[in-house]
Amino acid sequence: MKAIVSVDLNWGIGCGGQLLERISPDMKQFKQKTLNKVVVMGRETFESLPKMEPLKERINIVLSKDNSFNNDKVVICRSLNQLFNELLKYNTEDVFVIGGQSVYEQLLTYCTKVYITKIQKEYRADKYFVNLDEDKNWELVTESELHEYNNIKFSYATYVNKDYYKL
Ligand SMILES: NC(=O)c1ccc[n+]([C@@H]2O[C@H](COP(=O)([O-])OP(=O)(O)OC[C@H]3O[C@@H](n4cnc5c(N)ncnc54)[C@H](OP(=O)(O)O)[C@@H]3O)[C@@H](O)[C@H]2O)c1
Repeated sequence: MKAIVSVDLNWGIGCGGQLLERISPDMKQFKQKTLNKVVVMGRETFESLPKMEPLKERINIVLSKDNSFNNDKVVICRSLNQLFNELLKYNTEDVFVIGGQSVYEQLLTYCTKVYITKIQKEYRADKYFVNLDEDKNWELVTESELHEYNNIKFSYATYVNKDYYKL
């Protein structure tokens, strides 16, 4: 499986239950990468989606231990074990972990690759992604040139899990 995330200069990913920034071309590339695939997210991230609607044309899997959380339009898994059983149905290459912090933290070691949009700005944040530049198991393999949208500079980076490939 892979993860996909956007981070600021401090590896911040969210604040007050929302994204730090919405960058239209980044949203497009997120859609292009995940379309017709399986996306795995935590309940908080699901509830932050516009109108709390599942992402279209993707299989949406939501992690929640809260039995009062139910939704016919998504697959709900109550534990990591349940998630891993559910994921047996799919090609692991088609599975994308899409956040938030708690779900990235739990699933990062199972990811072969992370697609990171690096926003060249600092925001007030209360949720973070692991700083992969400080993690010897992860290696930066590609980074695009700087793009600009609404005066915000950002780049697309790919990190691979060296430890995973050794298995
Ligand atoms: N920058 C980005 O790319 C990006 C991407 C996604 C999200 N975000 C941001 O990240 C923030 C949300 O992150 P978060 O860490 O607060 O929440 P989250 O990871 O989206 O969701 C947390 C919830 O997921 C459920 N959960 C987590 N692990 C579970 C497990 N092993 N088994 C069953 N349920 C489990 C629990 O739900 P219950 O409480 O229902 O049990 C938990 O409260 C928001 O600000 C969002 O905008 C940013």
